[in-house]
Amino acid sequence: MKILVVGGAGYIGSHVAREFLDRGDSVTVYDNLSTGTRENLFPEEEFVLGDILDYPAILGAARGGGFDALIHLAAAKAAGESMLNPMKYSTQNLSGTVNILNAAVEAGIHKVVFSSSAATYGEPKYLPIDEKHPTDPENYYGFTKLEIERILAWYDRLKGMRYAALRYFNAAGYDTRGRITGLERNPANLLPVVMEVAAGMRPSIQVFGDDYDTKDGTGVRDYVHVNDLARGHVAALLWIAKNDQSLTVNLGSEEGISVKEMLESARRITGRPIKADFVARRPGDPARLVASSALARETLGWTAKDSDVDSLVRTTWDAYRSHIAHN
Ligand code: WQD
Repeated sequence: MKILVVGGAGYIGSHVAREFLDRGDSVTVYDNLSTGTRENLFPEEEFVLGDILDYPAILGAARGGGFDALIHLAAAKAAGESMLNPMKYSTQNLSGTVNILNAAVEAGIHKVVFSSSAATYGEPKYLPIDEKHPTDPENYYGFTKLEIERILAWYDRLKGMRYAALRYFNAAGYDTRGRITGLERNPANLLPVVMEVAAGMRPSIQVFGDDYDTKDGTGVRDYVHVNDLARGHVAALLWIAKNDQSLTVNLGSEEGISVKEMLESARRITGRPIKADFVARRPGDPARLVASSALARETLGWTAKDSDVDSLVRTTWDAYRSHIAHN
């Protein structure tokens, strides 16, 4: 197949592009490199430097390659930031995605895989969270993802666009074969922050609360390895193509890992002390978030295989360590 990966120079986008390349598909990446990096591009793929807010540019790219499908992973994703600067998220996530979907329709690309998020659910009403769980986002980032899902449903109904909305839980880890090493700039997520401390790029990590009603008092999340996520994108595209219908599905490991468990694994694997200061809870943080991925298992035959805590930590440390060695 010929795939247009919008946001394919980013952390998750590059792993998705790699998975399609490994299958023998041809990949074109469209990215403005605002958060993505050239380091994450592969020689086998085409690269178009462009912004999703530049409609003529994204339309030209969509028209230019006889694409069978479009994968959309170009978005702002920091939940906390979205509450301070919703305008950025309206522009990038909503206006940007409308441009992408309109370009897809005009270019005759009828299959779209969309990077959605567990943030669409908001505060868990029950666990594990399945796709029937109420969607009541707690932050503006999650709201933008849910709104895009709603637009996709209309484009399915009115323009015959078949989509897969993939609700990622906490994406983590790096390519198990070490082919992707681009580091996120100014990360806020747990594992990259832990790795920056291990690598001496940051003095310590603040642990947001150790008084939760969880196994060890710290927050528990469902971390899913980016290679597992990438395999989920391929499986989802093949499914919507075969069945000519759309799908909204969770991608999670179904395992809950606490902050303390992540720190223990990181100290053991890196051999570094990794200073942690325990501070107050972060507003809006639920104690536990764990997915049910039964639908992905039953429909796509997908399960997370690389998402155990040591694989997440070891592959991420390998990426960070490669930068220490270079610098
Ligand atoms: C994980 C755990 C924190 C950093 C966010 C977005 C969500 C999704 C994934 C895109 C929590 C604790 C973290 C730190 C800490 N993004 N933590 N100190 O909040 O579960 O989800 O990223 O789809 O939309 O909301 O991820 O990595 O920020 O936090 O103690 O410096 O680590 O309290 O328990 P989160 P996270």
